[in-house]
Parts: sequence; C-alpha cells; structure tokens
Amino acid sequence: MLSKRSAIQASRQLSSSRVALEGSKKKARSKAHEYIPENVEYGSLSKAQKAFLDRVVRVDQAGELGANYIYMGQYAVLSTKFPHLKPVLQHMWDQEIHHHDTFNKLQHERRVRPSLLTPLWKIGAIGIGAGTALISKEAAMACTVAVETVIGGHYNQQLRVLMNQFNIPIYDKETKRMLTPEEITKEIETSPELADLKSTISTFRDDELEHLDTAVEHDADKAVPYMLLTETIKLICRGAIWTAERI
Ligand SMILES: [Fe+2]
Ligand SMILES: [Fe+2]
Repeated sequence: MLSKRSAIQASRQLSSSRVALEGSKKKARSKAHEYIPENVEYGSLSKAQKAFLDRVVRVDQAGELGANYIYMGQYAVLSTKFPHLKPVLQHMWDQEIHHHDTFNKLQHERRVRPSLLTPLWKIGAIGIGAGTALISKEAAMACTVAVETVIGGHYNQQLRVLMNQFNIPIYDKETKRMLTPEEITKEIETSPELADLKSTISTFRDDELEHLDTAVEHDADKAVPYMLLTETIKLICRGAIWTAERI
C-alpha cells in the first residue's frame, strides 16, 4: 500500500518535473528566438577580414569613379549628336555618380586610402568613354556591355566572399555569452556594418546589370568590331581591378 502511494507520488513528481523541464525547454527555445539586433553584439573582424573590406572599398571606389568618368565621356560626345540617347545616358550616369558618392563616403568613414593611381583611372576612363563614343554610338554601348559585364561579375565575387567568409562570433549583449549556432537567427547573423555593405553592393550590382541590358537594347552588338572592342575593354577593366585592389 505504502509502496503504491510512494509510486504514485514519484510518478506525480516525475511528471511535474517533466512539465517543468518541458517548460524550461520551451523557455530556452523561445529565448533562442528572442535575440534581435538590439540585444547582441558582434566580435571583431580578423586582420584578413579587415584587409579584405579595405580592398573592397578601395577597388569599388576606383571602379565607380571610372564608371562615372566613362559616362561623362560618352555623354559629352553623344548627347548633342543623338538627343534621343540623352535621357538614357543621363540616367545611367546619374546612377554612377550615386555609386561613386557612396563609395567616397565609405572610404572616408572607414579611413581607407584611395587607389594611388586615381589620376590614371580618371584619364583612362574618360578616354575610353569618349573614344568609343567617337567611333560610334554602338561602340559606346559595346563599351558599356564590356564594363558592366566585368563589374557585375566582380560585385558577385565580392558578395560570395562576404557571405561565406565573414562568420564572426556573436555575443549576448548583457551576459557577454557567445551565442550557440542554434541561437543565431537570420535576423542577427550579419552585423549591421556587413549587412549595409552587402546591400549596397547587391543594389549596385543590379544597377550595373540594368545598364548592361540598356546597352544591349541600344544595339551594342552592332558595333564594329564588336568582339575586339568588348574583349579589349574587358581585359582593361580586369587589369584595372587587379591593380586598384593593390595600388
Ligand atoms: Fe556603378
Ligand atoms: Fe554601371
């Protein structure tokens, strides 16, 4: 009789402690979902990650400066000769000015030194823009196709690195405890700094691909000699990217 009572008691205790355990598990689970950007802080970036970000800002600033000057050159030559192209060129140029301004700002904020070859990028870009426009309006559009193909690919490459190689520790802001992988939700997995940079790059990448489409719509492929022009300009762009990342 006694043993039956104690068995019932034990069973009640067990089930109440199971309920308590379930409750605390539920609490822990809901706590895992409680983390929002406001109650976490991010560990610092490694030296290599910082160096990569500096390179990104330096080369992208130089690239957007180049794009700004290419469109400046195209616009100077084509806008009076072909008035119907004026709004098309102006729209793309305006976007490049915005891209250039954004990376100028980032460069100041992050104190990244600009590429030492900035004067060369300006002269080269205006030369390519005006030079191709002087050949023909189709050659100018072929130049846009080449430039935007390379820049679009370059931005995609940067995004891939930012997505795969930038895992940094995340801490509970109050307790300073490092969060477990289960506690890291989509909302908090990227620091605001990185999230901003990623969103800037992907927005600009989309703009560049839109410029590419615009150039195709405006007969880039009718440029003569199309392959020679685009392949040469692609080569120049890749060389400029390689150099601006380093010098
Ligand atoms: Fe751009
Ligand atoms: Fe562009």
